[in-house]
Amino acid sequence: MIPINDLGRGFRLYQKEYEDKALEVLRSGWYVLGKEVSSFEEEFSKKLGDCTCAGVDNGLDAITLGLMASGIQEGDEIIVQANGYIATMLGILQCGAKPVFVEPDEYYQLDASKIGAAVTSRTKAVLVTHLYGQATRMDPILAECKKYGLDLFEDCAQSHFAPYKGVNTGLFGKAAFFSFYPTKNLGCFGDGGAVVSTDPQITETVKVLRNYGSDRRYHNIKIGFNMRLDELQAGLMRVRLSHIDELLANRRHIANRYLEEMNNPLVTMPLTADGCEHTWYQFIVRTQDQEGFREYLKDKDIATDISWRVPPYLQPCMTERFGFKEGDYPVTEDLCAHIVTLPMMEYMDDDEITKVIDAVNSYKG
Ligand SMILES: Cc1ncc(COP(=O)(O)O)c(C=O)c1O
Repeated sequence: MIPINDLGRGFRLYQKEYEDKALEVLRSGWYVLGKEVSSFEEEFSKKLGDCTCAGVDNGLDAITLGLMASGIQEGDEIIVQANGYIATMLGILQCGAKPVFVEPDEYYQLDASKIGAAVTSRTKAVLVTHLYGQATRMDPILAECKKYGLDLFEDCAQSHFAPYKGVNTGLFGKAAFFSFYPTKNLGCFGDGGAVVSTDPQITETVKVLRNYGSDRRYHNIKIGFNMRLDELQAGLMRVRLSHIDELLANRRHIANRYLEEMNNPLVTMPLTADGCEHTWYQFIVRTQDQEGFREYLKDKDIATDISWRVPPYLQPCMTERFGFKEGDYPVTEDLCAHIVTLPMMEYMDDDEITKVIDAVNSYKG
């Protein structure tokens, strides 16, 4: 079976370096908030561009802490795309704010032309998720934020080092949120996340909030949390970060082969917008018979997935609280009923890529 992911193979790509780093951290005797975390924060932010970084324990908490540190509070409304991930909505809700949904565009990203109709007197911000690894077209989003006086935030959990017009996602708004969940383009070997900002005050506030609200030892200035990135994960990510260009190039190679060699009219390929680089966190195709296509590929020993069959606003926790119902966002629901995720792993070999291409091309519906 060609899996959707095989994290053990990812580990084996740089096994010796990971093992050496793990031993180094274990032998150091220092496991929480030490030199690995601060070096990772420095190296990651330097590679992104002109920003600072605060490592935290996962992507959801990065969203929660990043929004809190940026002044989002009870009663605020934040505009998000209806086909985004539930964790983005949970981070907004943890701050007491409310997600307000708009439909995506043909690239599956937040459709800037829908922002105006969603703005109310409570709207504070737009939170863009650069979905599946592709940078969103930021010029129209920034223009809408300016027009309505809104802050901009970015969920970059799927878009590490995906630039828009040459500038990395994560540098366009007030703060950006990263996940380093193991499957991510930059993943660790457990949970990890980060808040990045061009405003050092925001990352400093996140550093306080993540550590019991403490600005120095035994001195607590905020009602904080324990949401720290640990030394082992930070150290292992430094290894992976040192190989990130090569890992992203591998994904690009797979995507280019899929795009060039898949030619089945029953399977619609993903589009990439001008100026928006795609880092291929996921390769998403569309087909009329979602389940039939998946069954067909399963019979050919190819695993697939759906990201996601049920959109966030139709999850029970959201329908119960806000009364959302089927039909509220038809573009999103149509996508959810037709998208299929194909295998995309930086360690896929050419035979596996060919097998997926041949199977897709011989699908008859
Ligand atoms: C778009 C998006 N936002 C947020 C998250 C949450 O990240 P984590 O799993 O690290 O909490 C994810 C991760 O799966 C994601 O894909």
